[in-house]
Amino acid sequence: MNSTTSSRNSSSGGSATLSLFDAPPREALERLGPGAFVLPGFALPFVDALLPAIEGLAERAPFRHLVTPGGFTMSVALTNCGALGWTSDRRGYRYSATDPDSGKPWPAMPEPFTRLAREAASTAGFDGFAPDACLVNRYAPGARLSLHQDKDEHDYGAPIVSVSLGMPAVFLFGGHARGDKTVRVPLVHGDVVVWGGEDRLRYHGVLPLKDEPHPLLGATRINLTFRKAG
Ligand code: SIN
Ligand code: FE2
Repeated sequence: MNSTTSSRNSSSGGSATLSLFDAPPREALERLGPGAFVLPGFALPFVDALLPAIEGLAERAPFRHLVTPGGFTMSVALTNCGALGWTSDRRGYRYSATDPDSGKPWPAMPEPFTRLAREAASTAGFDGFAPDACLVNRYAPGARLSLHQDKDEHDYGAPIVSVSLGMPAVFLFGGHARGDKTVRVPLVHGDVVVWGGEDRLRYHGVLPLKDEPHPLLGATRINLTFRKAG
């Protein structure tokens, strides 16, 4: 993807509030569809706030490997924050206001999470995004996510905002049928992908992760996926 590579290399304008990293200029967005965009490096200014918040919420709602209704144990470990959390077991996939492991509400969504999600959505053309669920996916080398649609949410009017941290990954972005051709989108620490509108229900997944340790997160990739679920 040449456009991804070139946008990574482009410099961004000055900002009084951000000293090390700026959000990319709007023209650095890579378009995956009419309503689907990669925002290279968009989350970098938020990383210092995100990482301790993820540690904190994982103490209250630990990462776990969920079982799918088909009996398959997911290679990706998951936790949630926000009013609703996505969970799965032999009975099906669903959103729940409480963590089934503890019976307690999921940790509240930290303010920088909400702000990042809202700003990324707005940059991609979806103003007013107010997520009530954030799935926190943790990948070790070899972990993968097979092609799926995000369709357990009540309202498909809101986009999905997906934030990549730590090790790089190859994101697969397909069509509206499982068998449709996919594009491979390399994602690195700080990248954000937003898909909504007519692209909201496109199939997507993540190829098995290579072991390419990251300076901040070691042999781990964290993905935050923001949704309006309820
Ligand atoms: C997801 O589809 O829920 C996660 C995608 C990713 O890890 O990049
Ligand atoms: Fe997904």
